[in-house]
Amino acid sequence: TEQTFIAVKPDGVQRGLVGDIIQRFEKRGYKLVALKMVSPSKEHLEKHYEDLSDKPFFKGLVTYMLSGPIVAMVWEGRDACKTGRSILGATNPLASAPGTIRGDYAIDVGRNVCHGSDGVESAKKEIALWFSKEEVQSYKSAQFDWIYEKA
Ligand code: GTP
Ligand code: MG
Repeated sequence: TEQTFIAVKPDGVQRGLVGDIIQRFEKRGYKLVALKMVSPSKEHLEKHYEDLSDKPFFKGLVTYMLSGPIVAMVWEGRDACKTGRSILGATNPLASAPGTIRGDYAIDVGRNVCHGSDGVESAKKEIALWFSKEEVQSYKSAQFDWIYEKA
């Protein structure tokens, strides 16, 4: 099944939104398979955002991400990347629908609370960057048959 990398950014941690963000993914029916709090290096964050390295906001983005600990997670389930992005809301919170994380809790694109992989390929890269193989769990969810009609 599909996996996505979701992170609570330093502002989300400081604002006490970790539990709320986890709960939204849990309640939707996604399965948590990895979780840790980390303070990644500048080099790690530059690698994570390497596709954006030529953007004018890149330096500020890395500084923002270095401003405090981050909660890194892997969530698993059908269409996890696309649905994960819809749970987060649009990149710019002013355009995020109410009911999404950013639409409920953020205003500024440079303080948008959370991260989610933008597709299956980036999810694979990001999960490998943030977690070792041993840190990603494989287990059967007791709720599985109540969430999916067919495997
Ligand atoms: P992530 O889930 O964090 O990757 O966001 P995204 O995929 O919705 O957006 P993208 O990957 O294009 O940008 C990564 C992050 O850079 C965003 O989440 C913002 O925090 C920041 N960012 C994107 N565009 C802008 C911008 O125009 N100005 C500023 N200041 N930050 C931006
Ligand atoms: Mg992105």
